[in-house]
Amino acid sequence: MTARRAAVKGTAVIILAAGQGKRMRSRLPKVLHPVGGRPMLESVLECAAALKPARTVVVIGHQAEAVRAWVGDRAEIARQDPPRGTGDAARCGLKSLPGFHGVVVILNGDTPLVRAETVERLLATHGASGASVTLATAQLADPTGYGRAVRGPDGAVTAIVEERDATPAQRRISEINTGLYAVEAEFLGRALTELSADNAQGEYYLTDVVGAAVALRRTVQALAVDAEEVQGVNSRVDLARVEGLMRARTCRRWMEEGVTILDPARTWIDATVTIGPETILAPGVWLEGATAVGAGCTIGAGSRVTASRLGDGVMVKDYCVIEEADLDDGASVGPFAHLRPGSILRRDARVGNFVELKKVELGVGSKANHLSYLGDAVIGSHVNIGAGAITCNYDGVKKSRTVIDDNVFVGSDSQFVAPVRVGKGAVVAAGTTVTEDVPADALVIGRAAQVVKPGWAKRKRGRSGKKRSAHSS
Ligand code: UD1
Ligand code: CA
Repeated sequence: MTARRAAVKGTAVIILAAGQGKRMRSRLPKVLHPVGGRPMLESVLECAAALKPARTVVVIGHQAEAVRAWVGDRAEIARQDPPRGTGDAARCGLKSLPGFHGVVVILNGDTPLVRAETVERLLATHGASGASVTLATAQLADPTGYGRAVRGPDGAVTAIVEERDATPAQRRISEINTGLYAVEAEFLGRALTELSADNAQGEYYLTDVVGAAVALRRTVQALAVDAEEVQGVNSRVDLARVEGLMRARTCRRWMEEGVTILDPARTWIDATVTIGPETILAPGVWLEGATAVGAGCTIGAGSRVTASRLGDGVMVKDYCVIEEADLDDGASVGPFAHLRPGSILRRDARVGNFVELKKVELGVGSKANHLSYLGDAVIGSHVNIGAGAITCNYDGVKKSRTVIDDNVFVGSDSQFVAPVRVGKGAVVAAGTTVTEDVPADALVIGRAAQVVKPGWAKRKRGRSGKKRSAHSS
């Protein structure tokens, strides 16, 4: 532990995030593409922060303002303009660290799976060996696209050769450069000024620092790391693969925390989500954004929950869409319900199938179990909303509010033409269109009186002389 502490002390991190990411074919800067529900740069920043470095510098260039806005004040910013390769980017980053004499950790902005523990291991190896450069390498079954680690007769790494500059023999090397390095600051400064862009891409390669160290008879150390962690994102195919790995990692973490995930391969949990123990997630659940799920909840198949809070013991049945909603303990939703932003379900409230809610508070123990639209409404506790009830909250110009007080009984197929208020304990008869406020404990009934004409149907059949199929069946 003390050795690791000592190694981390005096560390600066440079994150390379200035590249165009051409192979993504995207208007969004590559490092802002989401992995696990947040920009991949966020994961790299988090990894850097865990090292508690003295300084962190993010090198930006392509779409600099978008990337700068995301970084905010969490790191210093260095500009690289125009992007002329990873070596040039590192040079720009190092310029922000004048007088820094420690170890520089370089991270690629496009490898979001790198763990802080791995970087700590790299620093420990670096510190122990006294090398000028320590690079992380990995064995890949398919090394296509990565720089290859070329080793000399004594087994030491002597150079990194990029795929496009490699000979056919070098391309057969399965040990790749992960883009993760620990380098002595002084040596890095010197090596970077001597880079040339004499290569297939006409760029300044950071990888040439390895060759420079060998030329200067400095020690180059390589640390073998887990291949999964260092998967880089260059294309959208890579993006999908890395997303899958990130998702699997997140599911594993929550299962270890006591969450049952019936089908981890088909469960999407953003890195930003929290889940309590004994919660069960059915196949196809997608938990997004700043969502917090309590303990002992069940979330049914195919349900998507975005930026919402679910208390303890909440039941979300199959195929619900829940956005920016707040559900207290014991609430129950679905199947096939849509909770739109501003939906609040108080304790033990129930929302059933084909119910849509928007900006609604449904009080303690209240129910809207079938086929309703409730918008811009405050509904008290122990209210029963019958099937098909609708708030008419929009007159084409403005939205108005419906207030339904505690213990109201709303019969099926009622409408509330807002603004309107129904007082405590009132009963709304089925089929009523409520257009004016209803006092507490009243019955309101607003439907055409029923007319019954005895024998009318039979007489009609007699006139036409036909026997109705309804009678024959
Ligand atoms: C790089 C390495 C390669 C390694 C791979 C690991 C070089 C020359 N090659 O290749 O050996 O196997 O990473 O994933 O370093 N960037 C800048 N400015 C630039 C160019 C790039 O900041 O001018 C940033 C990018 O935003 C990206 C990172 O550097 O985050 C890596 O650049 P990229 O072009 O993806 O390098 P690779 O071809 O993947
Ligand atoms: Ca890359």
